[in-house]
Amino acid sequence: MNLLFADVLEYVLVCSAKNDKIMIKIFISEFMTLNFKNQNDILNLEKLNSNEIEYIFSDKPINRLKTKPQLEDKIKLLSKLRSEIENIDNCELKKNAKQLVFADGNNQSKIMIIGEGPGQKEDEQGKPFVGDAGILLNKMLEAIQIKRNNIYITNVVNYRPPNNRKPEPSEINRYSNYLRQHIAIIDPKILILMGSTAMESLFGSKIKISKERGVWKELIIHNKTYLTMITFHPAYLLRQADQKKYSWADLKLIRKKIDELKISV
Ligand code: URA
Repeated sequence: MNLLFADVLEYVLVCSAKNDKIMIKIFISEFMTLNFKNQNDILNLEKLNSNEIEYIFSDKPINRLKTKPQLEDKIKLLSKLRSEIENIDNCELKKNAKQLVFADGNNQSKIMIIGEGPGQKEDEQGKPFVGDAGILLNKMLEAIQIKRNNIYITNVVNYRPPNNRKPEPSEINRYSNYLRQHIAIIDPKILILMGSTAMESLFGSKIKISKERGVWKELIIHNKTYLTMITFHPAYLLRQADQKKYSWADLKLIRKKIDELKISV
């Protein structure tokens, strides 16, 4: 910095300490008429004149309250996602189902459960997990003191597959785009994937649920990391009661994490 610019800077600092905006502006306009030899000085002065001085004298309040718009955004985004799925074209699942089964529970919840797809009862009622698997799911949640109304539940596919078949890989793939959006909108602190279809939809088909369940994993969606537990599906536990001990171990880990993160359920 040469002497000329150092003088200006010193004068501006003295004036700003005194809050003397007018004096700073007069001094700077005088100063700007001088013939500079050093281009850097001109650039430095422009910077000082345009940014710093406005910053020093700006007394506008900063609006930091975002809570309400965020909730409204979430409701809008969920309804947009719902209508995108309602309008899906050329979908075998949609053609055969009675209705869309979008989700159930509290959309403000920090816990989100993903199942496979609606069965007969879900197709009739338009709600996930209301049949036998749902009854077992409710008991599993009660066992770790979670009220079903306090969590958010959806499925990999949102229409009942014909004869309750497992969704095809192409269907899992197609719907995983919606599911990822759904997760990003709900933005849970804990994500619970129930069964191999939910696991495949988000982590790919090359892994086995018996190896992957029971450990915390990180799922990344839109640069955000979601803490995720893969565990057995309640419908599988209804067929394989001897596997319930593993499910119980997973549920205890989930409860522990809820307490650590101080999530209210
Ligand atoms: N099984 C699922 O995966 N989801 C349901 O909604 C019901 C049964």
